[in-house]
Amino acid sequence: MRIGIPRETKAGETRVAASPKTVGQLIKLGYTVAVEAGAGASAAFRDSDFAEAGAEVVAREAAWACEIVTKINPPSDDEITLMGRGATLISMMDAPRSPELLTKVAAGGLRVLAMDSVPRISRAQSLDVISSMANIGGYRAVIEAAGEFGSFFTGQVTAAGKVPPAKVFISGTGVAGLAAIGVANSLGAVVFATDIRPETAEQVESMGATFVAVQSADQQQSSDGYAKEASDDYAAAAARMYAAQCPEMDIIVTTAQIPGKPAPRLITEEMVASMKPGSVIVDMAASSGGNVAGSRPDEVVTTANGVKIIGYTDLPGRLPTQASQMFATNILNLMKLITPGKDGQMVVDLDDVVLRGMLVADGGEVTWPPPAVSVSAAPAAGAAGAPGAGAAGAAGATAPPAAKPEKKPLDRRLIYGGAALLAALFLVLFFFSPSSLLGHFMVFMLSVVIGFYVIGNVAHSLHTPLMSVTNAISGIILVGCLNGLELVNYTTRSLAEPANLVILILSIAGILLASINVFGGFTVTQRMLNMFRKGPK
Ligand code: NAI
Repeated sequence: MRIGIPRETKAGETRVAASPKTVGQLIKLGYTVAVEAGAGASAAFRDSDFAEAGAEVVAREAAWACEIVTKINPPSDDEITLMGRGATLISMMDAPRSPELLTKVAAGGLRVLAMDSVPRISRAQSLDVISSMANIGGYRAVIEAAGEFGSFFTGQVTAAGKVPPAKVFISGTGVAGLAAIGVANSLGAVVFATDIRPETAEQVESMGATFVAVQSADQQQSSDGYAKEASDDYAAAAARMYAAQCPEMDIIVTTAQIPGKPAPRLITEEMVASMKPGSVIVDMAASSGGNVAGSRPDEVVTTANGVKIIGYTDLPGRLPTQASQMFATNILNLMKLITPGKDGQMVVDLDDVVLRGMLVADGGEVTWPPPAVSVSAAPAAGAAGAPGAGAAGAAGATAPPAAKPEKKPLDRRLIYGGAALLAALFLVLFFFSPSSLLGHFMVFMLSVVIGFYVIGNVAHSLHTPLMSVTNAISGIILVGCLNGLELVNYTTRSLAEPANLVILILSIAGILLASINVFGGFTVTQRMLNMFRKGPK
């Protein structure tokens, strides 16, 4: 089949839905690829780069005439008419807000897979353009803020005086918010963040920011990774928290959103008026109603007290090469999913919850909304949330909101019984075993105690690399198994003996399993370290 990549026609759009790299990979999947001339110009991809990767560089009509068309923005009326009936369109559609568009594409006989309707489940992450673009948006929001801010982000002590670090507050810690925390932190600012979903506190703190809890009895538990509208009680407590934080902050980035609803209004005019002159707010939700009073889509508004409110709605497009590359990779991952035979033939399996979630029009019908997918993103019930915290809690308190469930105390009889059993075992060992075994046993017991305290004090996020490195302990098993092989070799040299055969088989099996553990552990560690490594890997 033939995939067309047209040039985006939306005013100000800088991205393109393919890169020379993904074109090469689409061709490996068995497709032929036709890129409209000049499609990648704003993203620094030349026609010659696409041609070198194996694409045909074609005129606009030829790109639209392909059996599959992939693009960034929803199609215009003209573009719909350029596609043949039965063709497949893969692009963003903004389905909740575009019922008319859905009717038009269905009437045009198109099958449409909406890249912005990918269900938010782990398996679908590699296709999720909303997350990729929000990640870039969050990054760019801080860069834009830095561009308007008149001071350093990082604190400095210089001959010309001491500069305190900037204070940055991030509201909403989904994908964009966490990306913004990462950038602000790496620029050296002191970062604070809040979210209506208390389960995000751990992620916020693992990224080096301080989670500012809203002291409300009404804490949300998300079952699907998305927030619901705040209750009156929560909204009032949040307003107190923002009123306390705004005068302290130099930069505020707001990213709060509730799917399918207007953006929640978090920062009022009075709160903006309480901020210091020169402070900067980036309202990432400016296009959906705004989290901040006074923000205007695609504008920088300067208030009477000298606060700048940035309302850009094209933040990912301000990094066109990176945004195109990530969008194109998301599309490539979708094409891999729907090309099981790697033969250039698309197979859309509608029993697959991801594909069904993306399908918004098919066979002349609008097929949106899809059946609901519910995947719990929350910790086990009761693990988070702060029932009873009181609605009138102090604004701006920084304690994590999660109240840990009470652990059931162990039965005392069980503890004493276990201790007595251990003591009895030790005595038996002491009196009846050879002294060398006793020595080994003491070393073993001490190792258990030391291991318990060492591992217990390592942060949870580091457990995986720690465990994979300690898997090298399997090296001891390897030595034991090699010993077993030696035993078979030098004692009897006869495998006819059943005992020798058993030793041989056990040794070989042990070597195999322990090697998987050792080499697998190091491979996992290497991959994790690569995730944190800068530059080419
Ligand atoms: P997300 O759904 O991953 O994160 C939104 C976060 O806001 C969630 O963690 C949610 O719990 C939180 N939230 C909702 N109501 C809240 C409240 N009342 N108080 C505090 N937190 C609240 O969304 P994502 O993908 O991170 O996008 C964030 C926003 O950025 C969206 O509005 C999106 O449209 C916008 N965006 C804007 C771009 C631009 O160029 N301006 C580019 C990309 C995204």
